[in-house]
Parts: sequence; C-alpha cells; structure tokens
Amino acid sequence: MCGIVAYIGSRDATPVLLEGLQRLEYRGYDSAGLAVVASGGLKVRKTTGKVRELEAGIPRRFKGSPGIGHTRWATHGVPSDTNAHPHLDGAGQVAIVHNGIIENATELRAQLESEGVTLVSETDSEVLAHLIARAGRPDLEDSVADALNLVEGTYGLAVIDSRQPDRVVVARNGSPLILGIGDKEMLAASDVTALVRFTRQVVHLEDGEMAVLRADGYRTSTLDHRPITRAPSTVEQGQASYGLDGHAHYLHKEIHEQPEAVARALSGRLDRRFSTAHLGGLGLDARDVAGIRRIKLLGCGSAYFAGRLGASLIEGLARIPADAESASEFRYRNPVVEPDALYVAISQSGETADTIAAVRELKRKGARVLGIVNVVGSTVARECDGGIYLHAGPEISVASTKTFTSTGVALALLALYLGRIRDLGPAEGRRIIDALSEFPDQIRRVLDTEADIAGVANRFNQSADMLFIGRVSGYPIAEEGAQKLKEISYIHAEAYAAPELKHGPLALIGPEVPTVAVVPDDALYPKNLSSLAEIRARRGPVIAVTSRSDIPDVEATLLVPRSEPELAPLLLGIPLQLFAYHVANSLGRDIDQPRNLAKSVTVE
Ligand code: AGP
Repeated sequence: MCGIVAYIGSRDATPVLLEGLQRLEYRGYDSAGLAVVASGGLKVRKTTGKVRELEAGIPRRFKGSPGIGHTRWATHGVPSDTNAHPHLDGAGQVAIVHNGIIENATELRAQLESEGVTLVSETDSEVLAHLIARAGRPDLEDSVADALNLVEGTYGLAVIDSRQPDRVVVARNGSPLILGIGDKEMLAASDVTALVRFTRQVVHLEDGEMAVLRADGYRTSTLDHRPITRAPSTVEQGQASYGLDGHAHYLHKEIHEQPEAVARALSGRLDRRFSTAHLGGLGLDARDVAGIRRIKLLGCGSAYFAGRLGASLIEGLARIPADAESASEFRYRNPVVEPDALYVAISQSGETADTIAAVRELKRKGARVLGIVNVVGSTVARECDGGIYLHAGPEISVASTKTFTSTGVALALLALYLGRIRDLGPAEGRRIIDALSEFPDQIRRVLDTEADIAGVANRFNQSADMLFIGRVSGYPIAEEGAQKLKEISYIHAEAYAAPELKHGPLALIGPEVPTVAVVPDDALYPKNLSSLAEIRARRGPVIAVTSRSDIPDVEATLLVPRSEPELAPLLLGIPLQLFAYHVANSLGRDIDQPRNLAKSVTVE
C-alpha cells in the first residue's frame, strides 16, 4: 500500500528518497513521486508506473534537501500523474505526501473551493496541502497541527515548505510513521524497510502524534502541542537480506528461505525436558491458561487461513474450543467479548488496518489479546498484551509464503504450550516436538522436488478455473493454495471443504476444471479418496498433494514426506506455493507485485 519516505540532512535528498521508495516497492503501488527543497523553491517529479520510471525522468540538476517521496496505491482517483503524490498548495510552497484516507475530504474540498482555492487532483490527500498553506502560521508544525485538527480520517503524513528548509514535519493517525535517526541527518518512513539502509535507530510515532525533524535531531509532540518523549529503539534485522540473492523473484527466494525461517521460529522454543514450548512473550502463566474457556484467532487473507489451521491445532492438542474469523468482518459486527476468552491477532506486517481495528475493539472491551507478528515493533505487536514473533525475516513479495508457514509453526507451538498445561500428556508433547524438529528438513525435501512441481504447473497453466479441496485442517491449506494461485497467476481458483462438493460445486467439474486435492495420510484419508472418486466419475482431472504415492487415478501427484497428522497439512502447503509460482512464471505474470494488490493493507 502507499509508502512514505522523508529526508533532511546535508546530503542531496533525491537519491536517498529514490532508494527508500525502491525499498517500499514491495508494498504495491501504481505511481510514485518526490519533492525536494532547492535554492529556487520546490522541485517536484511524479509519474504513474514504477520508481525506475520516476528515476529515469529526473534531471541531473534535480537536487535539494529536505525532501519527501511517495509510492501511491490509488483509493480516491485513478492512478495518474496528477493524482500521484506529492501534492502542493496553490503557491507551490508546501508539499505533502499522505497515506490513509481523509474521510471528510468532500466537505473540505467544497470549503476550500468556496474560498477560491483550485484543487488540481481527484485525491482526498490534496486538501491537506491547501489546508496547511491556509493555516499560514510562522512555524510549519503549527500549520500542520491546525490543518490536521480539521481532518477526519487516517494519515501518515510528511510535509515540507520551501520557506522553512530547516525542517520536515510528520504526523501519524492510523497509518504507520517511523523516524530514523542518522548521523547529522534524519529520515522518516511508513515502513522500517526504507530506513535500515541508512540507520537502525528508530522511533515509532503513535496515533495522534507528530514530529519535527531537523538535520541535528527531532522533537515529538501530540497534535495539541504537548511534548512527548519517545526513546529510540534499535532495529534487529540480523543477517536479513533485502536482495534477490540469485533468485528470479522475491517470492521464489522466500519460498526457499522457509527451512531457515521455520528453524528460527523454533529456535530456543522447544523444551524437551517438559515436552512443551518456551513462549516467554505470551505473558500467560499456568493459572491464566487453566482459566481460558475459548480461543478466537483473527487475521486477514493468508493470516486468517493460518488462523483456521491454528484453531484446529489448538482444539486438537489443547482441547480448548477455538475458531478463527476474518478480522475485517469481526471488527464490524459488534462482537460479544467473553471475559474468559483469549484472542489471538495474526498479522505478518502488524500494520493491517482491519486487524489493528479488531485488536483495538477487543482491548476497548477489556479482552486479553496476543499477537502473532513478523515485523518487530509494528502496531499489532505494540498494542497486544503479548505474543509470538515469527523471526521469518523480511517478506518482500506481496504474496505471503514463509510467513504463512512460520505462522503455522508458531500456532503449533502455542497449541503445544496450552496443551501441556491442560490435558496433553508428555509422550504426546514429545511427539509434536520431534515432528517440529524435523519440519525444516522436511520442507527442504519438498523444495528439492521443485522441477517435478514445475512440470505439473506447466501442464495445467492454461486452465481458466481450478478447484482446491481439503478436509478439516486440510481445508485452510486448500484455501491458502487457491489464494496463492489466484493472486499471482490471475487464474480463478476456489477452495471448498471436500464434503461440500456434492452440495453445489460438483456442477463445475469436468475435463476443463482441474481439482487440486490436499490429501494428508490421516484418519480422513478414505473419505478424501471418496471425494476424488466423485471428481473422477465426472472426468475432472485431479492433482493430489499428499505423502501417499499410491493414490489411484490422478493426473499428477505432488509428493511430500510423511509427517505427524498435526503438521502434515502445513507441509502440504509448500508444493502449492511452488505450483502457484511456476504457473504464474510460465504465464509471465508480475509475480512479486501482482496487479491491484498491496503487501500491507493499511486502509479499510
Ligand atoms: C497473502 O498472500 C496476502 N499477502 C494477504 O492475504 C495477507 O496475508 C493479508 O493482507 C494480511 O496481511 P498481514 O499478515 O500483513 O496482516
């Protein structure tokens, strides 16, 4: 989704902003732009398309500091050069970049127009530039605060004024904004990824806060001018690499990083002595766990599917009633919040607007909420009562792969921990620990079959539709498999619970519609074979994803090693990622930045 970068210091801002914008490309965008303060006033360039197209159109003499940059993902107004950010006031002195949605933009536009202001774009954001200019206070920060007091909605905002080149003003309400502290320079960005090349010292602004950045430091306050102190924290990125490291796409790289990502998620968390998991960040002792009567997992998209898998792991291992719900639905239905329920918010980015809203609604109603999050220090991580970090490393491709698998592993650890406090015996606990320990190597063995999976993908890449089926804990894996295929290949894919086929979707089955069947070698295996027979009887091609090499009468088998029943579905998800990747690659799709999608959905 939209990205912001800002810079002030002795360097020329332009290359710093361009590099920051490149780092934000993975979030998804349709246009890009930047503005810098030069001796003659503001210099501005913006364009639809990619950051490299923006860079190509920037003349050599385009230099200055401070500066602000933006990648836009259209909400109000089509992607166009005019709608791209930065937006300027009428005199061309104030420039803003904005993430979020100004909900009263229509009224504010009408008001400004009645005062004779001409707005040139269709965006909600442009009003901010005019309101700030209209405030006309001696200090830019006061003008920004005045303007924001008129605004309803969400914003991450960065502002420069050519008459005050010694500062950048930034503000946050519902859209992330992080300050980066350099050596005699300051940066700000909507995502820490844009900062780590320049500094690891960061300050997270909270909602309702703003900051004035100067080359030699920063000052934070609330919008009503109450000074606040925010101590910097250090970004721990370890050995994380932001490059492609020889892979053609980030998605491919991230699929192949899964053995190491899972090993990190498990590192230091397997307690063989007591056959349980060490999860110190939960802040739940045995007495708390004994009092939990129900668990609800919340997330969006792949995080929701991982939550559905987690609910069946928790019910199976801990015998606590558990279910998952999409956070985007939960937040709008005035949910009943039970005092003895535990809520778990799942979000790799920790910045998904719907998930944050669900967490806030729960906290407002007094619930205890845990977060399962990849990005350290993100909003979900900060606002939850405790949780589990995935330590999967940066996930750049829009489609989630390694964070989905790592989330599944984190949820297995949570289920084990809860189970061992409840009724799960030590021998069963040991069985799960052994299965988890083997998991990274089992993923590696699936990755070694990539050429076979690519061959199957090439046989089916001309299909217009595909069905994905699974049962119980295989069903969320089928949902995730369908999601991967549709988001990166644009092939229509639907997931169904296998027993539901005969209640409707069987009507679709025929030689032109392949079915991808998730078939674990578990107690439901015979039932799954019956579903496959129903499909074959209608001449539907079947691609079985399984650890069994003897499934009769299928077009193709994607084989995985045998695992314990609790972890087998998660392992069956790995070939589905490679299947989607190779279908999309053979069709020449924009794999890392699929059309219309954003990595981190920071608006409703
Ligand atoms: C999946 O491939 C997508 N990237 C999407 O469904 C994603 O899982 C969803 O938007 C939630 O993102 P989050 O984990 O960052 O909250």
